[in-house]
Amino acid sequence: MSIPKVVVTYNIGEEALAILKKHPMELVLWSEDRNAPREWLVENIPGAVGLLCMLTDKPIDGALLDIAGPNLQVVSTVSVGYDHIDFQALSQRNIKLGHTPDVLTEAVADITVMLALMASRNGRIAVEAVEAGKWPSTPWSLFAFCGPQISSPGYTVGFVGFGRIAQATLRRLRSFGIDRFLYNNTGRGSSRESADVDLRQQFNLKELRRVELDELAAECDLIITLTPGGALTHHLVNESFLRKMKKTAILVNPSRGTVVDSNALALALKESWIWAAGLDVVEGEPNVGLDHPLVQQPRAVLLPHIGSATFETRIAMACTAAENLIRALAGEPLLAEVKQ
Ligand code: DGY
Repeated sequence: MSIPKVVVTYNIGEEALAILKKHPMELVLWSEDRNAPREWLVENIPGAVGLLCMLTDKPIDGALLDIAGPNLQVVSTVSVGYDHIDFQALSQRNIKLGHTPDVLTEAVADITVMLALMASRNGRIAVEAVEAGKWPSTPWSLFAFCGPQISSPGYTVGFVGFGRIAQATLRRLRSFGIDRFLYNNTGRGSSRESADVDLRQQFNLKELRRVELDELAAECDLIITLTPGGALTHHLVNESFLRKMKKTAILVNPSRGTVVDSNALALALKESWIWAAGLDVVEGEPNVGLDHPLVQQPRAVLLPHIGSATFETRIAMACTAAENLIRALAGEPLLAEVKQ
């Protein structure tokens, strides 16, 4: 009997590797801290029973699965998002899909708050002023660098998508005194009335309720998109949404770049329809150069998709993905499996 082959497309670190190595298998590793080239994947995947991949391996589609052949039982991605994977193509072939929710919730909620503060308090403009040596010629001045205060009375936060990370963010924002939250969600788990009653009581909230996107856009001082990527959420934040937002409002996107129309957002910032934006993701990433319309907007704070980038979280993500893969091959329930 031949040893089952598992293909790993990245350096997943010693902890996750140790999980895989406990089991008899031929491990085909791309062990660099950069993506495996497509040709390498195409060359190595035929006959594999398992694929452990990154969100940057895209697309994992029917064509690649056909190259892999009928032995493939599981694709395990080191990410919670799986918009890089054709889930239908996997289902049609009875291939399981593992992902890594939960372990990254707190890290992404942390960076969401950081982006909200950076964007509202002119973080980018202020840091750039120091880096450009402008501090000596820009002494403390009463209204320079001012922005809206997120802990001001009546401040309202809106979530587009209200899953685990949004709720972890709500918990953090509550400690700023914010007690009014609106959200819009669709799809699985969208009916959550009793859960909302619990949240309202637990955090002593003045308001928590589901609203339509138009109301959310118009009512909120801070809008946070925490929704999966893909066709259903493509450009949920578009020109018409942005035009409805308050002039003092902040948009924060720590989820997927495709949720926000970049060109519309750049125009919104340029023409001051809104105050600022904090973005950990941008459509078309990583191709975001200095000429990108959002990079050109001083009130856009951009990070290169580092929401989950703490040592603890990334190790936990890699280990969860390794464990998912092993469990799928053993016919056991995964730690986290994407299901229909
Ligand atoms: C994910 O896991 O999908 C995130 O975008 C990466 O942190």
